[in-house]
Amino acid sequence: MESKYALRNLPVYQPGKSLEEVKQEFGLSEVVKLASNENPFGCSPKVWEALREEQAYTSLYPEGEAPQLRKELARRLRVDPGSLVFGNGSDEIVQMIARAYLDKGDEAIMAEATFPRYKTQTVIEGGIPVEVPLKDGVHDLEGMAAAVTERTRVIWVCNPNNPTGTMVSGKELEAFLKRLPEHVLVVVDEAYFEYVDAPSYPDSLSLLKKDPRLLVLRTFSKIYGLAAFRIGYGVTSEAIVGELNKVREPFNTNRIAQRAARAALTDQEFVRRCQQVNREGKEQIRAQLDLWGLSAFPTQGNFLLIDTGRSADEVYHALLQRGIIIRSGAALGYPTHIRVTIGSEEQNRLFLKELAACLKKPFRERG
Ligand SMILES: Cc1ncc(COP(=O)(O)O)c(C=O)c1O
Repeated sequence: MESKYALRNLPVYQPGKSLEEVKQEFGLSEVVKLASNENPFGCSPKVWEALREEQAYTSLYPEGEAPQLRKELARRLRVDPGSLVFGNGSDEIVQMIARAYLDKGDEAIMAEATFPRYKTQTVIEGGIPVEVPLKDGVHDLEGMAAAVTERTRVIWVCNPNNPTGTMVSGKELEAFLKRLPEHVLVVVDEAYFEYVDAPSYPDSLSLLKKDPRLLVLRTFSKIYGLAAFRIGYGVTSEAIVGELNKVREPFNTNRIAQRAARAALTDQEFVRRCQQVNREGKEQIRAQLDLWGLSAFPTQGNFLLIDTGRSADEVYHALLQRGIIIRSGAALGYPTHIRVTIGSEEQNRLFLKELAACLKKPFRERG
């Protein structure tokens, strides 16, 4: 039976290959997955301690409003508890935004190479994605502001941008907001917020105190290492939270995820360590790329988009056979780039060693 019109040309989401799949397919015992910007160190041990307490409650539905997590997160972020909305991953909040704000024929503006769910959810709602090319890998805010029409309902700014890792600054974002009409919801997706170290990065939570059109998206999937639990959040005006609550499934974030997120928040030392190792890993990979004369976009995230100078699909397959899973940039409009997550020092070393073999570059083991 045919589904609704909007789905006619919509492809099914293709996730990256899993560790198990690659082990089986190539008969490998060791595989390194650097394809989904996950935390190579898992999560804080405090999460598992807390989850033991949850064992007694598995038969109970979760509280849809996540009251305890709401209170604790609001305190940490210094925002009003009513300004938070939780999702089964920030993915689900992307879906809720599209559901709540896009009627058939409404326009949503986004970068051409960015997180793909903005476009998919727009299409599902019968909306029209308006894609503005990046400029040197960075959101073209001028171009995006110029693309606004009376039908524009939502603008997506992924900051840092996945897949390039580039960011827009606080000044640039503020100037952009000034140019936009009142009827537009501006979503700033800060999934990689905790990894950013540029001082000019926007203080978006302060901005949204002045601007009720703004929604900031964040997640526990990245630096907090809870991708398996599926929990993310949005910070915005209470009016927008109210609209999103109309389309939110009643028990959308589960009890275990809420508890895990609360425990993860208490371990900021874990977060600091991960930030530090990510910084070092970025340097480790960059130093080697420099030696090879290869370039990568200046990243503020836990991943790098690297120009291999060769077919990205070929490099992807060659690395896969050697037990390294990364993403090819081909489908993202970067036919010679690969996107690689910054892993542990050892994972980065293995990646560089295998990349050297694929690209026929020299590689010297350290020590
Ligand atoms: C920019 C961006 N936003 C949102 C997400 C979704 O994250 P989650 O649904 O795990 O919170 C991702 C995941 O990779 C991402 O890269």
